[in-house]
Amino acid sequence: MSSIQAVAKQDILAIVDSYKDENTPLMMILSEVQNKYGYIPLEVQEIISEATGIPVATIYGVVTFYSFFSLKPKGKYVIGVCLGTACYVKGAQQVCDKFSEMLKIKPGETTEDGLFTIDALRCIGACGIAPAVSINGKVYPKMTVDKVPQIIAEYRNAEGGKA
Ligand code: FES
Repeated sequence: MSSIQAVAKQDILAIVDSYKDENTPLMMILSEVQNKYGYIPLEVQEIISEATGIPVATIYGVVTFYSFFSLKPKGKYVIGVCLGTACYVKGAQQVCDKFSEMLKIKPGETTEDGLFTIDALRCIGACGIAPAVSINGKVYPKMTVDKVPQIIAEYRNAEGGKA
């Protein structure tokens, strides 16, 4: 993923401009920037603010409220642990804690090697297979604490054991 600092301001302005006819463009602008670059740092929020007239504080509030948006670059593998009600009652918190313990990061953080990010999610629409974990879009059904080490090992092995 390209460093967002290296991206021309023009690119961000072009995204903002493409939504200029929308009444409430902020979510669309932020979604496109997030999808394209993987995160929305403060410098970019300032560019969006200048171009739209929306205060930085408002933009910052939206970026930090929705877990889909991120202020920092995410890891190569984004582990989304659903903590929605159906998953929670079946032990999702313990699964999340196990990922945190093994990777030594909290939800929302990324490992120093840039390999893993843990995201705590709300219902991902897979309640029938709760507790559900999604890693880069691949869904792991009926997760248990015991499965966590093996899943982490699989991704580390895919990196040739260098992680
Ligand atoms: S609550 Fe986890 S998938 Fe619905």
